[in-house]
Amino acid sequence: MKDNLTETRRSFIRKAAAGSIALSWLGARQAPRAFAAEAAKPALLGGTPVHQGGWTKWPQWREDWESEMLKVWRSGRWFRGSAGHVSDFEHGYANLLGAKRCLATASGTTALIVSLHVMDVDAGDEVIVSPYTFIATYNAILDRKALPVFADTDPATLTVDPASIESRITERTRAIMPVHIFGMPCDMDPINAIARQHKLAVVEDACQAWLAEYKGRKCGTIGDLGCFSFQESKHLPSGEGGAITGMSDELIDKCDSFHNCGRAVGTNKGSGSFTRGNNYRMTQAQAVLLMQQFDKLVKETEIRRANADHLTANLGKIPGITPLRLPENSRPAWHLYAFRYDAAQCNGLSRDKFARAVSAEGVPCGSIYHEQYFDGVLDEAIASRGFKRLWGAERLKAYRDSFQELKGNQQVCATTVAITQNMLLGDRSSTDDIIEAIRKVQANSAALAKG
Ligand SMILES: Cc1ncc(COP(=O)(O)O)c(C=O)c1O
Repeated sequence: MKDNLTETRRSFIRKAAAGSIALSWLGARQAPRAFAAEAAKPALLGGTPVHQGGWTKWPQWREDWESEMLKVWRSGRWFRGSAGHVSDFEHGYANLLGAKRCLATASGTTALIVSLHVMDVDAGDEVIVSPYTFIATYNAILDRKALPVFADTDPATLTVDPASIESRITERTRAIMPVHIFGMPCDMDPINAIARQHKLAVVEDACQAWLAEYKGRKCGTIGDLGCFSFQESKHLPSGEGGAITGMSDELIDKCDSFHNCGRAVGTNKGSGSFTRGNNYRMTQAQAVLLMQQFDKLVKETEIRRANADHLTANLGKIPGITPLRLPENSRPAWHLYAFRYDAAQCNGLSRDKFARAVSAEGVPCGSIYHEQYFDGVLDEAIASRGFKRLWGAERLKAYRDSFQELKGNQQVCATTVAITQNMLLGDRSSTDDIIEAIRKVQANSAALAKG
């Protein structure tokens, strides 16, 4: 499996979807399966794969969306300022989340860039962020000419460990950016408390967390601003697209202005702009496609949750497999279903070979994010003229050295295995296949480790 972040996640979905038959919805439940994993020869060693069918295709298209899509294209009113669909989407998405306001953007990345600008993250500032995320999170901070300072990852949850944040605060820290990775809500109460105490902004990267909940509130409405992605692999997809949500009119109005070339809110005048700004607008067709999927998103979120709960209840009984711990009173969105793998309890079978063996059973899975702060993007940034001007050599060296201290994240990158969200949309029988494939590989781990 390629160890390449979202490429991996997105190519997972493509592979799982390619040529597969859409599976029936969870409604058609079947009797619980008796597992007999130990008896069977692993598919990687020439046995028969546990799962024979395909997985739910993603993204999905519904014929009954076509007339609304055609209407918007035939209207010739495609740009945000030419019609009301983008505003309608914003009201609808805010309602779904219980947010006061929403602003649609061109992508999740641009939602992050706009939010950081509005929270006054400026050149030479520092933003404390989770290292376990898609590279766009780092890049949005670098785009502001600010330094992404990594807090550590809690191996039990895969999200930022709140206890690791405070020691990273310096006089330049301006914001904290928790990432609800894989749709797992971060523990927001201690994060918000630290932010309040140190007068820092909180921008939630909720790009994988549509409808995820923490203590009765939806992710993306708990910090100052929340950012979402509607890229093709996402639960609410429109090819590209994004949104910023929040509870403050003032902040969302500032986002609106900045994302629309600095124009005054609600205006489309070609000149007379009064603030800095760029074009990060969503198109009308994206908005129409997204609005038609609201009910589907709500229904599928419940299906993913039911199947994920079934996985958690059963995978936890398999030696070497540890499901994730959720924050108290929270409900994930399950963009990926991840668990931790302990090779020591599986006869030393390496994590990557374990994932290959489970994939050979017809259950595609992989390792997802690696320690990408060693990949060069940050080295390139801190070697640039601008960053050298903004920080002294000593600070940049200490910054680079600090990557070695991310012990929790190192452990997470070395031991996590995940399956993609579309695989949580099948019936109970296909979810049982996931359990059986993992159980079978674990039971045969000695032979697999040798073979
Ligand atoms: C955690 C996270 N942040 C940011 C982004 C960026 O979103 P987009 O691809 O819509 O720009 C993504 C997209 O995959 C993501 O997963």
